[in-house]
Amino acid sequence: MIPPPPPRTARVSSVRAFCRRLLESGDLASKLAPPKGPDGKPLDDARPGPRLEIARPARDPELALRTGVGRLPSPRDLGAPFARARCLATFAHHELMAAELFAWALLRWPELPPRLRRGFIGVLADEQRHCRLYLARLRALGSDLHEHRLSDYFWKHAPAIAASPHGPRAFLAAMGLTLEQANLDFSLVYRDAFREAGDEATARVCQVVHDDEIGHVRLAARWLRRLAPGDRDDVQRYTEAVPFPLGAARAKARRFDADARRRAGLSDPFIEHVRSARSSQELRGTPRAPRVP
Ligand SMILES: [Fe+2]
Ligand SMILES: [Fe+2]
Repeated sequence: MIPPPPPRTARVSSVRAFCRRLLESGDLASKLAPPKGPDGKPLDDARPGPRLEIARPARDPELALRTGVGRLPSPRDLGAPFARARCLATFAHHELMAAELFAWALLRWPELPPRLRRGFIGVLADEQRHCRLYLARLRALGSDLHEHRLSDYFWKHAPAIAASPHGPRAFLAAMGLTLEQANLDFSLVYRDAFREAGDEATARVCQVVHDDEIGHVRLAARWLRRLAPGDRDDVQRYTEAVPFPLGAARAKARRFDADARRRAGLSDPFIEHVRSARSSQELRGTPRAPRVP
């Protein structure tokens, strides 16, 4: 029997208890508490425990996940304060969902190599920090997360990852090599748009996120290679593991930053595979709608 989750205010000392608190508490403070023990030391992960499958994160009513939330404002529209606030709320919430999903992965695959688990904890802490940075900018504009409808976009992919026969490789391909790879481009598109709108402080946050995202993509690329059996190239490893409907056409924006991908350790054939990928809409001849991961 699974023990009840720790109370919201509980101090945690293990990675398992930390991840459970993050996913089973609905409030933002519990979700953004950094992965440190009571004494400020790294969390213990010597005994990750049995697999724990959590279908959806707990969310307080003001942070409820919704399907079918409207489109993100175009970079051209950021002259309007409401559009800037809408973008910042969306980006902050993407970071929050990313932190939740890394906790979800740590609970789901306790057998992962300790180095990869440490890598996931490091990325999770970055996603929490990114969330706080965007929230600070959102609050500086006089708005807050609970004033916006929050999309379940990232969580919508969790069932396909969970059902994949490729296990953690599906997670690495979906999160690191699709959603985070795409953010290498989107972070710079919106950095420049915020800068043009006169919001240099947010532009700097977008740059921080971009720089950290290179490390996140690198971690996924490295471990997808290590965990994939047999003699395959990067394109084959990715194509095999990425769960539908994610795929190479969703791993980028129109502005394609090949240099950031090289710095993340992606091979030239894989970069070219993503650059040339066409969405099903494009293959049907209909124009591709702007989309942000
Ligand atoms: Fe992030
Ligand atoms: Fe990331």
